[in-house]
Amino acid sequence: MYTLPPLPYPYDALEPVISAEIMTLHHQKHHQTYINNLNAALSAQQAASTSNDIPALLALQQKIKFNGGGHINHSLFWRNLAPAPSAETNIDTVAPNVKAAVEAKWGSLAQFIEDFKQTLLGIQGSGWGWLVVRQGLPEKKIRSLEIVTTKDQDSVVTPDSSVVPLFGVDMWEHAYYLQYLNNKAGYVTEIWKIINWKVVEERFLQGIQGEVSFKL
Ligand SMILES: [Fe+2]
Repeated sequence: MYTLPPLPYPYDALEPVISAEIMTLHHQKHHQTYINNLNAALSAQQAASTSNDIPALLALQQKIKFNGGGHINHSLFWRNLAPAPSAETNIDTVAPNVKAAVEAKWGSLAQFIEDFKQTLLGIQGSGWGWLVVRQGLPEKKIRSLEIVTTKDQDSVVTPDSSVVPLFGVDMWEHAYYLQYLNNKAGYVTEIWKIINWKVVEERFLQGIQGEVSFKL
């Protein structure tokens, strides 16, 4: 049974970028519901497996995918945010390797942020935007930084660990609507103030060393 991981900061710590009301609902209600539904689906899967109920097992796959993905994505998201201003949100001092890699790929940090913002604004319906390290064959030695999106609660983490998430931005309306209303552009502009670049750097270094194993 999975349980809700505590936030690494108080509910009001990300204000004014994200309100305490949003953080409380998002964490205690939305994330908790993904966990509850995941646990229920896993219990039902065990029962269906015991009774050899193949139709039931097939029906449970989508529930496990959706709610398991919701649990993974939110667990990553909380940890890649931090109160600002703080040492963790200063990319210059805590994430020199990420900054250099971003500048090598996009030309400048500003251009990367602009591209990421446009990708976020291009998401139709619910989903997530991510900066990832993609590891390719042979032996995962080809590595590249990429901006990717995932739909609904599809997990950004792949079974073969070929994609290492550095940070994600939740683009479900529950992540911003109570505060930003229809101003989605305001949300994707302000979120950069609270990216925890220290965590991003740690994930990046683990990713390029090919030693990432993500566990909840
Ligand atoms: Fe969310």
